[in-house]
Amino acid sequence: MSKYKIAVIVGSLRKDSFNHKLANAIVKLAPPEFSFEQAQIGDLPLYNQDDDANQAESVKRLKNKIKGAQGILFVTPEYNRSIPGVLKNAIDNASRPYGQNVWAGKPAGVIGASIGAIGTAMAQQHLRNVLAFLDVPTLSQPEAFIHAKDGLFDDAGNIDTDSKQFLQNWMDRYIAWVKKHMA
Ligand SMILES: Cc1cc2nc3c(=O)[nH]c(=O)nc-3n(C[C@H](O)[C@H](O)[C@H](O)COP(=O)(O)O)c2cc1C
Repeated sequence: MSKYKIAVIVGSLRKDSFNHKLANAIVKLAPPEFSFEQAQIGDLPLYNQDDDANQAESVKRLKNKIKGAQGILFVTPEYNRSIPGVLKNAIDNASRPYGQNVWAGKPAGVIGASIGAIGTAMAQQHLRNVLAFLDVPTLSQPEAFIHAKDGLFDDAGNIDTDSKQFLQNWMDRYIAWVKKHMA
């Protein structure tokens, strides 16, 4: 059994999502003592404070996954210079009811891919703002704004040689970040 379980949150529901592919590719760069599992967020209800006392099963499932994880990995596209609504909705759902924010204290990494030239920089900055409020210690450096372009992944879904070293370094830093917070 892996010593460190990481919950992966992908901010895109798209079938051929670059971010989904990026998530699958970077987890292969982690050591075997780490295991990664994607948390389903597409079936969560739109957050409604009236439901706080009676949260949906899908919300409880997400919260349990976060509670049982030693760290979080956010992999997200940028939508209109911010984070996708589906991601914000997941964050909101698992942050409530008041006093039962399951994100607090979980070491996190933030990375993302977009077809735009400044690939997810604005979305990541917005996400960092939200995570700071939720008391999530988030890896600051290196930042990773991945430009999704042809050839980024090979046929097996692995990252091409040029970006691989950069992403390996990013993953090494993320691993060290999680370990530091679990020490
Ligand atoms: C609603 C919407 C808004 C978008 N806004 C941005 C944006 O602000 N910046 C950007 O770089 N790309 C933007 N894009 C393009 C995304 O980078 C592109 O669709 C990307 O493939 C989404 O990630 P995914 O492949 O993981 O679904 C937007 C796409 C959509 C559908």
